[in-house]
Amino acid sequence: MNNTIKNRWRISRTIAAITIAICGISPAANAEQLSDAQIEQKIDQLLNKMTLTEKIGQLQLRDWGMYGADKTDQLKQDIREGKIGGFLNVNFDAVAGNTIDDLQRVAVEESPNGIPLINGQDVIHGYKTIFPIPLGQAASWNPSIVKQGARIAAEEATSEGIRWTFAPMIDISRNPRWGRIAESLGEDPYLTSVLGVAMVEGFQTDDPTRRDAMAASAKHFIGYGAAEAGRDYNAAYIPETTLRDIYLPPFKAAVDANLLTIMSSYNTLNDIPATANKKMLKDVLRGEWKFNGFVVSDWNAVLEMLPHGFAKDAKHAAELTANGGVDFEMHTTTFEEHLPQIIKEGKFTLAELDQAVRNMLRVKYKLGLHTNPYTREGRENIILSESNLAAARQAARESFVLLKNDNSALPLNKNQTVALIGPLANVPHEQLGTWIYNGDKKDSHPFLPAIEATLKDAGKVIYVPTLKNSRDTDTSNFKAAIKAAKKADVILFIGGEESILTGEGHSRGRIDLPGAQHALVDALAKTNKPLVTVIMAGRPLALGNVLEHSDAIMMAWHPGTMAGPALADVLFGDYGPQGKLPLTWPVDVGQTPIYYNRMATGRPATDDNYTRMEDIEQGVFQHVPGNSSNHLDLGHLPQYPFGFGLTYSSFEYSDIKLSTNKIALGSTLTATATITNTGKVTAIETVQLYVQDIVGSVTRPIRELKGFKKVSLKPGESKTVSFTLHTDALAFHNPDMQLVTEPGDFNLWIAAHAQTGLAAKFEVTEK
Ligand code: BGC
Repeated sequence: MNNTIKNRWRISRTIAAITIAICGISPAANAEQLSDAQIEQKIDQLLNKMTLTEKIGQLQLRDWGMYGADKTDQLKQDIREGKIGGFLNVNFDAVAGNTIDDLQRVAVEESPNGIPLINGQDVIHGYKTIFPIPLGQAASWNPSIVKQGARIAAEEATSEGIRWTFAPMIDISRNPRWGRIAESLGEDPYLTSVLGVAMVEGFQTDDPTRRDAMAASAKHFIGYGAAEAGRDYNAAYIPETTLRDIYLPPFKAAVDANLLTIMSSYNTLNDIPATANKKMLKDVLRGEWKFNGFVVSDWNAVLEMLPHGFAKDAKHAAELTANGGVDFEMHTTTFEEHLPQIIKEGKFTLAELDQAVRNMLRVKYKLGLHTNPYTREGRENIILSESNLAAARQAARESFVLLKNDNSALPLNKNQTVALIGPLANVPHEQLGTWIYNGDKKDSHPFLPAIEATLKDAGKVIYVPTLKNSRDTDTSNFKAAIKAAKKADVILFIGGEESILTGEGHSRGRIDLPGAQHALVDALAKTNKPLVTVIMAGRPLALGNVLEHSDAIMMAWHPGTMAGPALADVLFGDYGPQGKLPLTWPVDVGQTPIYYNRMATGRPATDDNYTRMEDIEQGVFQHVPGNSSNHLDLGHLPQYPFGFGLTYSSFEYSDIKLSTNKIALGSTLTATATITNTGKVTAIETVQLYVQDIVGSVTRPIRELKGFKKVSLKPGESKTVSFTLHTDALAFHNPDMQLVTEPGDFNLWIAAHAQTGLAAKFEVTEK
């Protein structure tokens, strides 16, 4: 045990504690801030003192479940011997009365060099105040609300000792069959980059030494969202141009925003497990991007290289992982068990080991754990505070996407009788969505009481859930639902998917509303009452008859703790819907994967050349129905395009102008358009900028999002919205994997969504 260094950690901690006590510094007071050079110097000193066991210990991320209540002594002994670098989910699994601080105390006060643990947890869309699932947050297209959500999550989680989160998940997701699409920010690299960075900034702040800051972990690196057939953990095949232009940019943006950690993914990418993918983890991440935080493997992923057929045994897995570029091994202990021998055999060098330990220690110093290892004290009354709940309510309101609104069925009138039908109308647990380790249904504000409060004067609610959950196939309560519907002025059907149907390992092959929900909607439609549908789900669903029968459809995702009040606000018009889809909504599962920024085919389908299956005459010559890229039975367009979402008003786009039609490489143009509110209420429109590079040395997407702006307009009001576009934003990877903007002609649109817009053209010329 080295007392000098142990004491150094201890003394600085004591000084910090005394300073806080004496000066009354706020609990969010920063830890000792060190320059990069000071950090590297301190790491050098530590590395000189650390034994091989301690070094390898820094690379072991344990979970509490590995020990359990009966092995607390063993656990503490392992910490004491410097065999553990950090824990995950202690606070979720906590047993035997030990808190994160209790474990930290052993590390700081009793381990050889007093190096603090880093404690991580899946704080994905809120800690106890649950915000909408990330996909819902993405539908807000509002980086500030997304950043605020991450900030509040960090304030709550750090108050209980968690200084590291496994978020944001910035896997591009083009396939709604994949259950983890719910955790993603959608299909677009630009939107995901902007919102992913907002989350990183919210978690980490610009001073991660703050006691209420958390290290973010961008995940899953890389290609996890491209699982074949959307089946979780499945192989991903991604051509390098697509990898570099679509899947990598959000991670690059996060790294550029001072991201502290990255999690590698479970999948194989082009046949190499991401856990040991040297090219991605070393060449790209460290080499090209100069990432200097640490890389953590996913839970058990190291040993999963055995069933992958990539590692022959645990020792081989350790060797591949260490050499592949992972620093921190999550859950498994192959580093502890095998690295000493692997090093002895010269298959992993001591210098490489030091580098991995350096990455770990650097993050710990950057978090200020050296002077602020404990985070519980003085941080009460933060969790589920009124202001946190208000922020979650606002985030939920902004996440709702109005997909259909015929005959102004919405907003609802507060003086009506509402038949509230469906399995998800009063669901404190389901409304929270996937990955809510610390979220609790007892804190939820569900919809039923919210609508009752809203209708408290003349209106009333008749509530008949009809189905006990979203998968229920029992139709015996349909009669009661129909009776209620007949008595009401309007039917409000709240259906979709329970939270368990999305998330990790929860992919679906069908994406319809499960159980008897479609049948229930048919039955309700027969009453001829106005039907308003709210879909609560972690993915877009194939709507089928729901679309046909509903006068209005609102996509609510899983809105979180404040789902009820937020939905009531928007359904009754106290707050206008403004969300836009962060993904393309398919007609049916057969269209998936589906995304707006696809490459053009040689035979693009149009309304003119597309023939529906029903319209093909029997016996016609083979080419008569036309040969274009489509599905005869599902059409050539999605149900709703990326970027789509209605409001309670309407907008007209006019007068597109470019500052110039020719720009030289390295310069900027400005595109403007006038947006006018042509409806009767104030509303917020999200105006989108798209471009298309018409000819390239590799084929280019038919459209790519390059910017968006929100504009609030009163009835009759017009505003000019302007975007600046630098030629660097037009760059892509050519066949030699160089990032280039190629001179030539471009289309540009200022648009309400990806399938519409005012068009203009410009040319990029050589410098
Ligand atoms: C998931 C990660 C998560 C980790 C730790 C894994 O199964 O893929 O996203 O952060 O578990 O809970």
